[in-house]
Amino acid sequence: MDNLESMLSEKRIFSPSTEFSERARIGSRAAFDALVAEAERDFEGFWARLAREFVTWDTPFSEVLDDSNAPFFKWFADGRLNVSVNCIDRHLPAKAEKTAIIGESDDGSVTHISYQELHDRVAKFANALKAQGIEKGDRVVIYLPMIPEATVAMLACARIGAIHSVVFGGFSAEALRDRINDTEAKMVITADGNMRGGKKVTLKGQVDKALEHGCPSVDTVIMLEHIGGVDTGASSAKELTWAEAVEGQPAECEPVMVEAEHPLFILYTSGSTGKPKGIVHSSGGYLVNAAMTCSWVFDLNDDDVYWCTADVGWITGHTYVTYGPLALGVTQVIFEGVPTYPDAGRFWDMVERHKVSVFYTAPTAIRALMKLGDEVPNQYDLSSLRLLGTVGEPINPEAWVWYYQVIGGGRCPITDTWWQTETGAHLIAPVPGAIDLVPGSCTLPLPGIMADVVDDHGHSVPTESGGNLVIKKPWPSMLRTIWGDDERFQRTYFPDNLPGYYLAGDSARRDQDGYIWIMGRIDDVINVSGHRLGTMEVESALVAHPEVAEAAVVGRPHDVKGETIVAFVVVKGDRPKGEAAEAMVKTLRDWVTEQIGPIAKPEEIRFGDNLPKTRSGKIMRRLLRGIAKDELPEGDTSTLENPAILDQLMGKD
Ligand code: WT7
Repeated sequence: MDNLESMLSEKRIFSPSTEFSERARIGSRAAFDALVAEAERDFEGFWARLAREFVTWDTPFSEVLDDSNAPFFKWFADGRLNVSVNCIDRHLPAKAEKTAIIGESDDGSVTHISYQELHDRVAKFANALKAQGIEKGDRVVIYLPMIPEATVAMLACARIGAIHSVVFGGFSAEALRDRINDTEAKMVITADGNMRGGKKVTLKGQVDKALEHGCPSVDTVIMLEHIGGVDTGASSAKELTWAEAVEGQPAECEPVMVEAEHPLFILYTSGSTGKPKGIVHSSGGYLVNAAMTCSWVFDLNDDDVYWCTADVGWITGHTYVTYGPLALGVTQVIFEGVPTYPDAGRFWDMVERHKVSVFYTAPTAIRALMKLGDEVPNQYDLSSLRLLGTVGEPINPEAWVWYYQVIGGGRCPITDTWWQTETGAHLIAPVPGAIDLVPGSCTLPLPGIMADVVDDHGHSVPTESGGNLVIKKPWPSMLRTIWGDDERFQRTYFPDNLPGYYLAGDSARRDQDGYIWIMGRIDDVINVSGHRLGTMEVESALVAHPEVAEAAVVGRPHDVKGETIVAFVVVKGDRPKGEAAEAMVKTLRDWVTEQIGPIAKPEEIRFGDNLPKTRSGKIMRRLLRGIAKDELPEGDTSTLENPAILDQLMGKD
């Protein structure tokens, strides 16, 4: 085996092995190129073919793409389907006994849920939702741990045409309240709590707090008794336990067939303003790309055991836990715990025990596990693995090669998948049986995805030059709008300066082979451990504290998390120093945790009498990014209103 250094010393290409390619869905560059050509020749015909191949329609569509009201595109608009039928019923009775979900708890206990059992559980829970008055189009907020019931709850909503909005369990009561109110949800589905790393974390209390602060739309709270032994309190809404809700409900539930464009879910993500965006996804188009990418990019087959470590609170947990893998009828692992409990071998132990063949995780997890040394994974039999994936941020070549060698045994391709909450599914990623891999690049757009790198006027930039990553034509799983804010949708993703292109918000460059290299965000979004956070969101939380006058937040590179948050704060009254400053730092870190959640907690907070601003009053974040790294700001500071502030923020005063 080559050593790490020699593998990194030159730009190395990793070609798919014959063994992998021979059994892969798309097993050669020629097969891949043929699909690209097909999409270019007959764009609508290409997507229509895939929509028929990957989705079972109750009413077939006759229309493929309706672009008459761009950028409010419609796909397969006169088709009707039910997504839960596609994820469950169509695998029955053939796969009744096949395991759909292997649920592993924090403490190591394991449950196997067959496709038949999944059907029954979803049907019962869907009936329970109906019994509580939930109808097609109603919004239901799901605030659950990473357990099979989260998937059951999502599919139950889909079965009756209710629109779910999953809120990550790590978000605070305040963040939960904002999302409940923005969706005007009628119901919240939660649990008493969850177990992570041997510790109990309560969830229901956050729901009570959110409702206490005013969520007038919520009639009912359903709470799963999951960990027991915690005080679950009471909210102002009607409350029942999951067990009570499903009691006496039949294991059959007539699916509600919905139009392809009917929203399947709303998922909030951060943007350039303080207010998160409720990204709206469709039913039909979304499912087409979800299933298709599971087949092409993950090459999932009937005998695979697939494991995606993402939480259902993020888009990855929607497309690559709930919808895509189940649409293909595969067996997957759902894990409640953390990678380091009871010890640093947990992931690898699980790969060995469940014979995982396709494993999908984030670069931040890979870097964290890499730091613990090769001895840990080397104790386990990882020979079941055949394909590895990453998502969420660029993966540094060192981590890539470690993942390839130590986890994949030099045998498994790595698919570095670029996509976003808004794109619904992978758009740029190596199809592993067909594409040569280069560590650090997400390689080529998938067939049918018209990606380009352009300047601010929409002109393609030359090879090796940076620019805006855009998608020039719509695709089925694209977001449909921002919930309640069509105007923001249009302004953010289809800005006037670009001729109808989808603006991803990432900068990128293309190399000589056409491979795409993601360079980072072009907006005020930071990526902490693969989770997107808006600097404005954290700033809004900080200035909401009674003692804060002004705040600016920037990202700082971090070797495991990718980026961490550094906040610059001006307090009302005198600038705190010494112990007073330490106390204030703690107060504000706790405050942000309460306002948004632990992921938004600044790693460092510095106090100033002021912030560096231009004469027109704009905060110069570019300077703050340098200061956060303890680097004297480079470049032009002549437009700065108050240059002395730089020394102060550098800690020289
Ligand atoms: C942003 C989207 C997509 C699910 C997880 C994050 C960054 C995502 C990659 C990748 C480089 C990546 C981008 C993107 N990103 N995947 N393979 N290489 N960067 O979803 O929270 O919507 O964030 O994550 O900056 O815009 P998200």
